[in-house]
Amino acid sequence: MANFLDKVDYWIIDWIIIGGPLRYYIADLKNYVGQSVELKGWVYNTRSSGKIKFLLLRDGTGICQCVYFKGDCDAESFDTTFDQLTQETSVIVTGVVKEEKRSPGGFEIGAKKLEIIQIAKEYPITPKEHGTDFLMNHRHLWLRSKRQHAIMRIRSEIINSVRDFFNGRGFTLTDAPIFTPNACEGTSTLFQTQYFDDKAYLSQSGQLYIEATAAALGKVYCFGPTFRAEKSKTRRHLIEFWMVEAEVAFNDLKDNMELIEGLVEYVVQRTIKNCPDEFVAIERNTDLLKNVKAPFARIHYSEAAQIIKKENPDFIIGDDFGAPYETIISSKFETPVFVHHYPAAIKAFYMKEDPLEPGMTLSCDLLATEGFGELVGGAQREDNLETLLAKIKQHDLSEKDFDWYLDLRKYGSFPHSGFGLGIERTVAWICGLPHVRESIAFPRLYGRSYP
Ligand code: 4AD
Ligand code: MG
Repeated sequence: MANFLDKVDYWIIDWIIIGGPLRYYIADLKNYVGQSVELKGWVYNTRSSGKIKFLLLRDGTGICQCVYFKGDCDAESFDTTFDQLTQETSVIVTGVVKEEKRSPGGFEIGAKKLEIIQIAKEYPITPKEHGTDFLMNHRHLWLRSKRQHAIMRIRSEIINSVRDFFNGRGFTLTDAPIFTPNACEGTSTLFQTQYFDDKAYLSQSGQLYIEATAAALGKVYCFGPTFRAEKSKTRRHLIEFWMVEAEVAFNDLKDNMELIEGLVEYVVQRTIKNCPDEFVAIERNTDLLKNVKAPFARIHYSEAAQIIKKENPDFIIGDDFGAPYETIISSKFETPVFVHHYPAAIKAFYMKEDPLEPGMTLSCDLLATEGFGELVGGAQREDNLETLLAKIKQHDLSEKDFDWYLDLRKYGSFPHSGFGLGIERTVAWICGLPHVRESIAFPRLYGRSYP
């Protein structure tokens, strides 16, 4: 029974239990053709011509045309209520569901009654062009527009597919704390905060904690907000972003790349399959995304550096890649591309150096297609106590703060690898957004923390 209930729509369950749905939604109208329904939502648009008045109603699940015919509906609704409607007024519509191919969603309401919940004041977002700053200041309202609505639905599907990927493969979710005593990704981007009489930092990454839970549970992941005090205004950087991180005991660099490409393929293919209407709404052609199938291309840092140097002689081999350089590399491939073996000098303290290539780490970054840059950062971790201690000193980190982390190298140290995938970068890539600010409901950017 439980399995059966997992598979059926919630509206059927409501029918079984209470003989009707708890509430009617536009997305479910196909189930109620010929029946009378009550819809609650907001006015998207109105239009009248003599004896007939049209209301485009949105309820969050879709948009539906409600048709008021004089004489065929409640007189007060037609004569007075309808004419008070303004954009975004909240209303209750009662009427009969009809199939109508030309209507958005394929159904319309032969409306009988109209009730107003609240008449909206003059709505600031109109179909005319608005500047970015204006829209960002009205983000709380901007989210109601078709395009932003579609992006939020795609983001939600991406997150659900990330969770299903791990949950379906025997991973345990072990979320990491937000208040942390130490830096994971370098001390220059830490947000310091008060923790009663102590100081603490907002987490840059849950990695160090899930290395510990990996020793307890084998295959683990965490998913939560992470923070970077980066004073840069780029199209790809948020101050607060959501990251899914996985860590697997006994995985090496190769295993790590296979896990990453499996995840990214699954997320992309499932999202383009499940959100066709949303991709139409944002005018995103998903043809190129169909190529996102494992195995992805893999190139060594030195090969990537040569590619960049050829087109950009100023590039110094050994340096990290900025956004334009990542674009040069990814433009050479049809699938996302892994760059592996970055120099230890430009990477975090915890990355293990390849014993066969001293100075180069067992790291891998995944660069997206279409010039969207780094989506994933990952590595095999340093598992030797003495080497890790030396790295902590070399990076000027406080050994005391890392005592607990070093314990993992004292009590049954184990080779292990993991990675972090940035959700907003993934949303921006899959949706083809020029800037990450539209990939999250309320972006925190350098210079913006309102609304
Ligand atoms: O490469 P990063 O910094 O890696 C880590 O934090 C590792 N500790 C992860 C791990 O191995 N468990 O960040 C991982 C990903 C990046 O590839 C990018 O997608 C995203 O997180 N990211 C950001 N997204 C938006 N704004 C920022 N400022 C970001 N910084 C990183
Ligand atoms: Mg990185």
